[in-house]
Amino acid sequence: MLKQLRHAIRRARLRHYLMCPPTYFDVAYSINPWMDPSRPVDRALALRQWFGLVDIYRDRGHRVDLLEPVPGMPDIVFAANGATVVAGQALSARFANPQRTAEAEVHTAWHQRNGILYGGGEVREPIAVNEAEGDFAVLSKRILAGYGFRTTVEAHRELARLTDREVISLELVDPRLFHLDLALAVLDDARDHIAYYPDAFSQQSRQVLAELFPDALIANEHDAYAFGLNAVSDGLHVFIPCGAQQLRENLAAAGYWPISVDLSELIKGGGSVKCCTQEIRPAPIATRRVDSLPDEVASLISEDSAAHPAHQTTAGASS
Ligand code: ARG
Repeated sequence: MLKQLRHAIRRARLRHYLMCPPTYFDVAYSINPWMDPSRPVDRALALRQWFGLVDIYRDRGHRVDLLEPVPGMPDIVFAANGATVVAGQALSARFANPQRTAEAEVHTAWHQRNGILYGGGEVREPIAVNEAEGDFAVLSKRILAGYGFRTTVEAHRELARLTDREVISLELVDPRLFHLDLALAVLDDARDHIAYYPDAFSQQSRQVLAELFPDALIANEHDAYAFGLNAVSDGLHVFIPCGAQQLRENLAAAGYWPISVDLSELIKGGGSVKCCTQEIRPAPIATRRVDSLPDEVASLISEDSAAHPAHQTTAGASS
């Protein structure tokens, strides 16, 4: 007799990622407890490891776009911190530390040029400090948001206004896990299945997590400090830093397909898989703003949508 599956069937969805090669990666300053400027960085190894991750994503069918690296920005490899894109709406970062301030503009410029790829409109410039997906975890309807070290609660409100989604604020208390994406991973963003390390959060936030996510996978201290929660999931494959053995086993038992990734050089900067990966979540086709496209392109799309009414655009709907 077939044994009953004790977990949901996992399905991968094709993703669109933005990444920036560690061409100028270095640990030249220290803005988190992992960064020790006296420890040398092997940049060639960092590049090999990083390109390995790009290949792994592309092998699984995901689209990876590359951001041009900039000399003098050693942390821009951590692309998750540069912008947040939810349903085609982009909010740029405003960094907490002056060493990273200039990265925000590089991301803003990329999204202004390439928003057409994902149905994006204008790129929103933030007022409050936010380190983007470092502290924002996007679920099916809600967004979880960290505060305590980098991103502020005001920024949570800005994101809620922009996306029209409920944003749940979670307080981070462990300086080694200074971003939400070091303490919590989204495993299935259609079913809101997550993994997290409870001790990274204040008592109150721990309670919120326990109530909202009773079926979450709980990571242990070893795996959290091995960057195990700094993982990226497409809904089936979980690209996870190689040191997090117990979490990898728990993922497999829950029906996921863990894929180990070694980014040891980048960990010297305080980041791993998720930190290097900005996810671009496209606008739903029906709401793409045809009026913001050049006329020639807009007319092509409206003609097309007239032929396929299921994919109607705003311009198509009003004509
Ligand atoms: N050195 C970087 C910083 O301290 C590491 C960023 C890690 N990124 C992340 N998404 N957790 O800002």
